[in-house]
Amino acid sequence: MAALFIHTKSMAERTFIAIKPDGVQRGLVGEILGRFERKGFKLVGLKQITPSRALAEQHYGVHKERPFFAGLVDFITSGPVVAMVWEGDGVIASARKLIGATKPLEAEPGTIRGDLAVNIGRNVIHGSDAAETAAFEIGLWFEASELNDWSPSDQEWRVEG
Ligand code: RTP
Ligand code: MG
Repeated sequence: MAALFIHTKSMAERTFIAIKPDGVQRGLVGEILGRFERKGFKLVGLKQITPSRALAEQHYGVHKERPFFAGLVDFITSGPVVAMVWEGDGVIASARKLIGATKPLEAEPGTIRGDLAVNIGRNVIHGSDAAETAAFEIGLWFEASELNDWSPSDQEWRVEG
């Protein structure tokens, strides 16, 4: 029986990562960015901005009825955020593992929050929690023209051809 194989290169998985104002103020940008780089993911978008209230409220819209919402928006708009898009197979779930539990005291040592934070309201980093939220958050924070697809020269040493 003849089988028809259509080779389509599906769009690689991407996630939205943001170093929150506490991470930037504490000089942890290089430390955090380096963990994603060393893991082997590909950086396709990077910028530093102080988010508007409207942006922060949309980003954390899922939490708008929660008692911590106003404080969370105050905090995230209080200073520079380093917004990033990282790409790679399984990057959404893997980034959440690299980040660790929401409560830093419950986050495992070796994770970003486990190593670098102590308080839930100052947990240094955000990462998308699912494919739908990743797509929403990437579109919210970045213009398409700000995302740069490229081929790392050492890709064959990280990913089988
Ligand atoms: P994020 O969205 O920032 O990556 O964090 P997450 O998924 O681990 O946790 P999530 O439930 O989405 O909560 C978003 C952020 O809200 C703050 N929060 N405070 N005081 C509280 O009880 C409380 N609960 C959550 C945290 O800063 C958390 O990262
Ligand atoms: Mg979340």
